[in-house]
Amino acid sequence: MDLARSRSPTSTLSSFGPSTIPVGPAGERNADGVGGSSGARPSRPGHELARVLRGWRERGLLTQEQLAERSRMGVRTIRRLESGHTFRPTAASLRLLAGALGLSDDERMLLLAAARGEAAAPPAQAAGSVPRQLPADVPGFTGRGEQLRRLDAVLAEGGAAGAVVISAIAGAAGVGKTALAVHWAHGAADRFPDGQLYIDLGGRAPGPPTTTSIQALALLLRGLGVAGDRVPAELEAAAARYRSLLAGRRLLVVLDDARDAEQVRPLLPGAPGCAVVVTSRDRLSGLVAIHGAHRILLGPLPDA
Ligand SMILES: Nc1ncnc2c1ncn2[C@@H]1O[C@H](COP(=O)(O)OP(=O)(O)O)[C@@H](O)[C@H]1O
Ligand SMILES: [Mg+2]
Repeated sequence: MDLARSRSPTSTLSSFGPSTIPVGPAGERNADGVGGSSGARPSRPGHELARVLRGWRERGLLTQEQLAERSRMGVRTIRRLESGHTFRPTAASLRLLAGALGLSDDERMLLLAAARGEAAAPPAQAAGSVPRQLPADVPGFTGRGEQLRRLDAVLAEGGAAGAVVISAIAGAAGVGKTALAVHWAHGAADRFPDGQLYIDLGGRAPGPPTTTSIQALALLLRGLGVAGDRVPAELEAAAARYRSLLAGRRLLVVLDDARDAEQVRPLLPGAPGCAVVVTSRDRLSGLVAIHGAHRILLGPLPDA
């Protein structure tokens, strides 16, 4: 199945015909402005949409800010949608959201139903189910044959030795670190039957990391099916929970755009059978020296 393609933002555009959503010319409408909805379960308009959106966002390990960035919508709009204050978002908004959340065709139908105020099945990932969080592959990915082979080789070697495989992809902004990690991860996904976790660590911003290790762990634990109120608040406890959930499983973890080795250290799986690919502008020397990570230094594509 061409999951990568079906998750790409552009391909979702065709799924929403302009006539499929009852949207007035006024565009987004506030829940406060209009009373009642046709759905049986929601207690107020916008409630069902808020519920499914939050569930899908958390399943995707996205913060509201990250969803806003991905969907190119304002973070205030996301917050209003998730708090049930906006209902009947425009068809364009729904398309952007579906693309950013990587929704399947069925899920897009649920989103439409929710936007009409109809109750749907809970979208959040059930405990014990297999997380599949890789973002869409870069359309027209090209080159990087040598690096892809290295990632394959490192994986095979680690598997034989029973060690955790850590690959660090370092290079300047925009050089293609995320594209390489995600493209390789899609190709290698079937070697990790217990799932693939992906998290954007937001290391690009100056100043302190936008995602701290404990925030990242909380999101990773949610991805592994831990209920929000069961996620330990302490870094040590959260890291221990994370490692014990990964023990005995074959999972791939992609830690994208790490600020430095310090930020990712608590996020490394301790279990043989798991692999982690870390991308960073930093050379991640600490990971290489202490954890034996295999570093791939990335330069610009030849024809870029
Ligand atoms: N191997 C590749 N083939 C095709 N396009 C690529 C490739 N690598 C990067 N790109 C393009 O360059 C853009 C920036 O790459 P990205 O992986 O986001 O950079 P980085 O993570 O290093 O900042 C991507 O969105 C993609 O469009
Ligand atoms: Mg990147």
